[in-house]
Amino acid sequence: MRRTSHVSIGLAAVDTNLPIPEGATREDVGDDRSIRPLPVPAAAAVATWPFFFFFFSPPLPHRRRLSLLLLLFSSTPTSQGSNKEATFFCSKKMVKAIRIHELGGPEVMKWEEVQVGEPKEGEIRIRTTAIGVNFIDIYFRKGVYSAPALPFTPGMEAVGVVTAVGPGLTGRKVGDVVAYAGNPMGSYAEEQILPARVAIPVLPSIDHKVAASVMLKGMTAHVLVRRAFKRYASKMVVQYFSCYPYLQSSSRSKPPRCKRIQLAASEPASVLQVQRGHTVLVHAAAGGVGSLLCQWANALGATVIGTVSNEEKAAQATQDGCHHVIIYTKEDVVARVKEITSGKGVNVVYDSVGKDTYKASVECLASRGFLVSFGQSSGIPDPIPLSDLASKSLFLTRPSMMHYTVTREELLESAGEVLPMW
Ligand SMILES: NC(=O)c1ccc[n+]([C@@H]2O[C@H](COP(=O)([O-])OP(=O)(O)OC[C@H]3O[C@@H](n4cnc5c(N)ncnc54)[C@H](OP(=O)(O)O)[C@@H]3O)[C@@H](O)[C@H]2O)c1
Repeated sequence: MRRTSHVSIGLAAVDTNLPIPEGATREDVGDDRSIRPLPVPAAAAVATWPFFFFFFSPPLPHRRRLSLLLLLFSSTPTSQGSNKEATFFCSKKMVKAIRIHELGGPEVMKWEEVQVGEPKEGEIRIRTTAIGVNFIDIYFRKGVYSAPALPFTPGMEAVGVVTAVGPGLTGRKVGDVVAYAGNPMGSYAEEQILPARVAIPVLPSIDHKVAASVMLKGMTAHVLVRRAFKRYASKMVVQYFSCYPYLQSSSRSKPPRCKRIQLAASEPASVLQVQRGHTVLVHAAAGGVGSLLCQWANALGATVIGTVSNEEKAAQATQDGCHHVIIYTKEDVVARVKEITSGKGVNVVYDSVGKDTYKASVECLASRGFLVSFGQSSGIPDPIPLSDLASKSLFLTRPSMMHYTVTREELLESAGEVLPMW
């Protein structure tokens, strides 16, 4: 047996090639793995039923019986696409997938056969060509986040080719290349059923491994710079209720009635996101999300400060657009941030490290600054007292990319900022 697999670390993507017997091609083994052999009596029944039907069905002219027989054959359910993927109505399509039966380290991941069904209404089935590997997969494997049930197949990011579409589905067809990031879990598999609404088209010019490595982390970076820091609004109308004229009224007997006053103002969206003039602090600046975040914040004109653990990562962070890099194993993060910002502090801290960085993050913030805590690589921070925020009127948010890509419009907006779609 030889195993052809590809793993690239950083923005991680895994090519999902499988063990293939020596001397055989992937196509050679494809048929056998997609069609499970039937038990002998069942196979005999399947093979002979047309003849029984032909000779023992109710009396009909021979031509009618023949055409009915052909109709039954032609409507026997098969997956759409090539003949290789055709399945009999009583066989089950089996594919290989990583399964986790008990929580723990990487050793609990088992490569097993699983059944993949036919897509139902609103669903598609994809043959996975590359998957994204994310920190969240580790959380589910270890039990930091609870999977709905055991055993389960991890993975929340993939690119694949559509092999079947559910009944009545339009806008998606067999052969399309699509990507997805987020729910449902289960991308560590040769094939997967997905709701069609989570699928994003992938242009032929885009390498599948690149697309699979950038969707989840890229959409997270988009949410963090454009939506989680301050409120996102395309149009803002300032209104307030004034009771003033009535309180001035001489007649104290009348109850005061307030009046709605519209101050005008429709502010451009850019006012409400990271922009020129802001200073941002990104922990784990050379990590998967961190490196994208630094590039994005830099491109929006902000001054970017990154923290990393070593020199090599410092060089990477500088390349990714950090104006200042702090090696936290050698330098005091809070003191350096105060020095860089002339004592003011930063407008926003993007903190994916959690337990180890929370305190410094709060200390690095300017008055009315934002702590955007979006991960916990070092563990979940201890409960946060409100007094921590009160000291500087701080804002705290714990965003998840998935909560910002709920509707199809939100998803397309985020994905469209990461991958070109046309
Ligand atoms: N909220 C969301 O929607 C969302 C989406 C994607 C990811 N996330 C979260 O963001 C975090 C980072 O994800 P990522 O994909 O960027 O991961 P990553 O590429 O593996 O980066 C993690 C980095 O964190 C730093 N780190 C500090 N303490 C650590 C520790 N105890 N264990 C491991 N790493 C530690 C390391 O950088 P240094 O060596 O420089 O310290 C490490 O390279 C994860 O917690 C992930 O779950 C959240």
